[in-house]
Amino acid sequence: MSIDTTGNDAARKEAKVRVEHLYKVFGAQPDDTLRRLQAGETKDRIYADTGSVAAVADVSFDVHQGEIFVVMGLSGSGKSTLIRCINRLIEPTRGRILIDDEDIVGLDAEALRRLRRDKLSMVFQHFALFPHKSVGENVEYGLKIRGMPARERRDKALKALEQVGLAAHADVPPDNLSGGMQQRVGLARGLAVDPELMLMDEPFSALDPLIRRDMQDELLVLQQRLRMTIIFITHDLHEALRLGDRIAIMKDGRFVQLGTPEAIVARPADDYVAAFTRDVDRARVFRARALRRDAEALGPEASVEKARERLAQLERTALYVIDAHDRPQGVVRRASLESAAAPTLEALLERDFPTAHEDQELVELYDVCATGLPVALVDGEGRLTGVVEPLEVFRLLGGNGGESDGGEAMGDTASRPSEHAGSLEMRRRNHG
Ligand SMILES: Nc1ncnc2c1ncn2[C@@H]1O[C@H](COP(=O)(O)OP(=O)(O)OP(=O)(O)O)[C@@H](O)[C@H]1O
Ligand SMILES: [Mg+2]
Repeated sequence: MSIDTTGNDAARKEAKVRVEHLYKVFGAQPDDTLRRLQAGETKDRIYADTGSVAAVADVSFDVHQGEIFVVMGLSGSGKSTLIRCINRLIEPTRGRILIDDEDIVGLDAEALRRLRRDKLSMVFQHFALFPHKSVGENVEYGLKIRGMPARERRDKALKALEQVGLAAHADVPPDNLSGGMQQRVGLARGLAVDPELMLMDEPFSALDPLIRRDMQDELLVLQQRLRMTIIFITHDLHEALRLGDRIAIMKDGRFVQLGTPEAIVARPADDYVAAFTRDVDRARVFRARALRRDAEALGPEASVEKARERLAQLERTALYVIDAHDRPQGVVRRASLESAAAPTLEALLERDFPTAHEDQELVELYDVCATGLPVALVDGEGRLTGVVEPLEVFRLLGGNGGESDGGEAMGDTASRPSEHAGSLEMRRRNHG
């Protein structure tokens, strides 16, 4: 099955952030704790014995330039500790953190200040707005402490407020705004500094569901326009699925699974991940392209012999024939190819075939799957981009997809070429 399980095709992209074997221990004698961790002792056991907390334990991952990397996990799993190590609000106990290939763990105070000024910004769930400053001044604050002249920072703050739809409120105190609007001010404050890397720690968790969805949409639009790299923490799977190019699931300081939204939902690595994904409606999470296979289509000039030859090499029940513009013209079944003393391919072609747009939700494919023929996937121009086998649709939606290549449990992180990355398109097309 051609579900992209790891998003590793993206691994060829540039790493904006690379975390290598990161550990954070709270407590005395961190070395002892590290030794115990490496000997396989659990976080709970170590805490019971020593009173030290292994908040982050041997975490490694890359965040690619321009992606939204989501970290999800239960309370206490180490998400905030991890993200705070990345801007060194917390000092890692061991490991490397590279931002644009520079190891930031060793940076001195001055270099760290520069890094935070030039590249990073952070948005929290509970950020404090200054009550006696105006909304605009709140947004300017980060620029002010960076020494930006008044005029320039005012312009920048207004631009950031515009991006979140609050330019008209620049001169009022934050108390005049609703909770959702205040959270937007927090986002504007993060955006004002033009960060290359945004660290977002449950920024929308305090918002009510409708506003939260708006903010998610807005973030997707902003991210597409500004091409920031974002590390985003959430408790909420639906938020993770909407936002994440890739999702890491964290438990007891470790990543238990890292993969595309499809992979996490289709093949949870263990019961912990499964508990998050159980209630997800797969038929709506997945787009048709998530199950796309190569069409192996035949060109307009193909002969019966050619078709038989190709089928002999493939486990397919049928093949599509395309015209000179890659548009599907019809489908020829294996059975008819094998039985026929067929004169021409043309004579065997069925022109009434099941088809779907590659971005359609799987729930919309049920009907066309009923024919049993592979479904022809087409793009916006009507070109054949692949096929979906009905059995794979039913298998995935039946929750019984486990026989084919699996979602990536951690510890099995070797790069594997994957055929495509459905996740981006899965959500972005609605936000373009
Ligand atoms: N300053 C600290 N001193 C001691 N222990 C800490 C400290 N900060 C965090 N911890 C512990 O480290 C572990 C991870 O905490 P962390 O705040 O990173 O979790 P989290 O996943 O962000 O949780 P939440 O979802 O509740 O925000 C927890 O066991 C927590 O008690
Ligand atoms: Mg936290």
